[in-house]
Amino acid sequence: MLLRVPQVLNANELKQMQALMAKAEWIDGKVTAGTQSAQVKRNIQLPETSADAEAARQIVLKALSRNALFFSAALPKKIYPPLFNQYRDGMDFGSHIDNAVRTHAISGMHVRTDISCTLFITDPESYDGGELVVEDTYGQQMVKLPAGDMVMYPGTSLHHVRPVTRGARLASFFWVQSMIRDDVQRTLLFDMDAAIVTLRQQMGDTAPVIRLTGNYHNLIRMWADT
Ligand code: NI
Repeated sequence: MLLRVPQVLNANELKQMQALMAKAEWIDGKVTAGTQSAQVKRNIQLPETSADAEAARQIVLKALSRNALFFSAALPKKIYPPLFNQYRDGMDFGSHIDNAVRTHAISGMHVRTDISCTLFITDPESYDGGELVVEDTYGQQMVKLPAGDMVMYPGTSLHHVRPVTRGARLASFFWVQSMIRDDVQRTLLFDMDAAIVTLRQQMGDTAPVIRLTGNYHNLIRMWADT
């Protein structure tokens, strides 16, 4: 499932993030790429250990922790500490699939990349190109979102970033290992959760709504890897 999560960052957080990015030191993005993707990756990143990256990471993690849509769609077990990249002057990232397991350089934590996330930091009017193109069952999905919005898509997807031909595109990217490994099961739970929330608003906690909520939790109990 490819999902847009609107307004993950609020206006204040975006401003803080943009200020951090403006003063930060950037390095070649190949440092966190696998062997195949290093050949097609042309962008720059914040060094994982820099103070600016750490400050920006805390803003993203705090924003995620209050986001119900993200939680319902990801059912996260582990979140890879968010990274930050920038594309400018024709930079792009050719077609690739992300590594299945990322090992965090500092903590040694392993994260299976069930879900890939890109959180847009730059206003789309200020740059040309830079669309994230994700190949899914329904063909190619072009994604270019307002600053503060995030896209989530299955880690199994082939994807690329088109060249940025004007301005600069800043984003945060990271992966989630979900309690629900399988995308089909996770999508079913997400849809079911959304339907239950709507039913509860319309009907209150009636007996069938309580039963359905129980079914949702029983499916998680059956499938979850905690
Ligand atoms: Ni990628």
